[in-house]
Amino acid sequence: MPDWAGCFLTNWPASGGGPGGVILAGGIEQVNTKRPGDGMMSQMDGDIYLDYAAGAALHPAALEAYASADVPANPHALHRLGRRARAVLDQARADVAEATGAGPAEVIFTSGGTEADGLAVQGIYLARQSGRRRPYLLIGATEHPAVRENARLMESRGGQVVEIPVDSAGVVSLAKLERHLVRHGAETALISVMAANNETGTLQPVDAVVELAGLHGVPVHSDWVALLRKQRLDFGASGLAAVALSAHKVGGPVGLGVLLVQRRVGLEPLIGGGGQERDVRSGTVDARAAAAFAAVLRQDLESAAELDQLLTPLDELISSHPALTARTPAWGHLPGLRNFTVADARGETMVYLLDKAGLAVSTGSACSAGVAEPSHVLAAMGLDQATCLSAIRVSIGPGTTPEDISRLIEALPEAVDRAQAAESGPAKPKHSRT
Ligand SMILES: Cc1ncc(COP(=O)(O)O)c(C=O)c1O
Repeated sequence: MPDWAGCFLTNWPASGGGPGGVILAGGIEQVNTKRPGDGMMSQMDGDIYLDYAAGAALHPAALEAYASADVPANPHALHRLGRRARAVLDQARADVAEATGAGPAEVIFTSGGTEADGLAVQGIYLARQSGRRRPYLLIGATEHPAVRENARLMESRGGQVVEIPVDSAGVVSLAKLERHLVRHGAETALISVMAANNETGTLQPVDAVVELAGLHGVPVHSDWVALLRKQRLDFGASGLAAVALSAHKVGGPVGLGVLLVQRRVGLEPLIGGGGQERDVRSGTVDARAAAAFAAVLRQDLESAAELDQLLTPLDELISSHPALTARTPAWGHLPGLRNFTVADARGETMVYLLDKAGLAVSTGSACSAGVAEPSHVLAAMGLDQATCLSAIRVSIGPGTTPEDISRLIEALPEAVDRAQAAESGPAKPKHSRT
């Protein structure tokens, strides 16, 4: 289910409005044509999917690899069938390593990007407490919750999280990072700065972060979840201590991630168990899912320039429409992703209106416990709360066509008008029962 779906489903009870629908601000009626779990099916019922940054459909190569890797054994078992499953897993590990410029021994399979980030942040922090106390965890102010919340968890273990501020384009301040390192480098356990932001597409100067950190002997972790398959990757050349990847954003299965981690980097396990992955990650590894992910990574990369060019009409609309403001930097952004805010409107309302027009986009920000929260990413970039709540993210992928973008361009102005009317109109949100 796309990450916005839960916001609607829990914010507005299905009992309000018309038959199975609810009345939103301004009297707009949402008819519940979707049920929980229907999200990805929208691609099948004629809707245009423009939310690839939240998740992508399984790539045919992944499906095929999954099916043909279906060996009936645990890859950690000693018998012949177990060894066969192990061979599948070993091949997947080698393929992931090859595609990311890592060594096979540097590949740790996890349950997803969240666990990979958590293992890196918590694992490195805890390992770095041996010998001397290093309380500081330095993280970019726009990191994904998978990094932020795992860093915060370390506060109960003596950690002190320091956010590296970003500028209005969302780029971390190297000057602030340097200032911290000069004063506290010896007490800093790790730095975590994502390669590309999943909400705005802002690219970070990770090379420069690694260089600065290297002067102080501080390991750097980077979340590459949004960057994966957008450009050629080279973990070995990056100088990074650890990197998190997720399979389902690129056409691999949900529930599989990878932590690339240098052999020399100490990591404390998050949970105990059989220690199947390098003694730091326990649990049976899903060899079939790993094979499916590896199959995606073996596919040729799409042209980033061509993908990005598809969004030129959207860029033109954003720059010419008085109510729209681009939040994705014009330069130094992830190809195929745009974030913009809508004056005097709520992102959620826009998402709903566009959904009704058959276009699946997202607000870009997380919704937790059923409440759409202002984007911490946009807040870190200096935007006020109302503006943070007005963001829309459009993210495209291999299946997107110029016609899809034309449909979006046609639908957007009316959605803006209606969303603004919903905010300013006399009708307040009504949750009437029928
Ligand atoms: C940048 C980034 N990091 C980490 C994650 C978490 O990945 P997963 O869904 O595989 O746990 C996401 C998913 O939204 C993401 O966008």
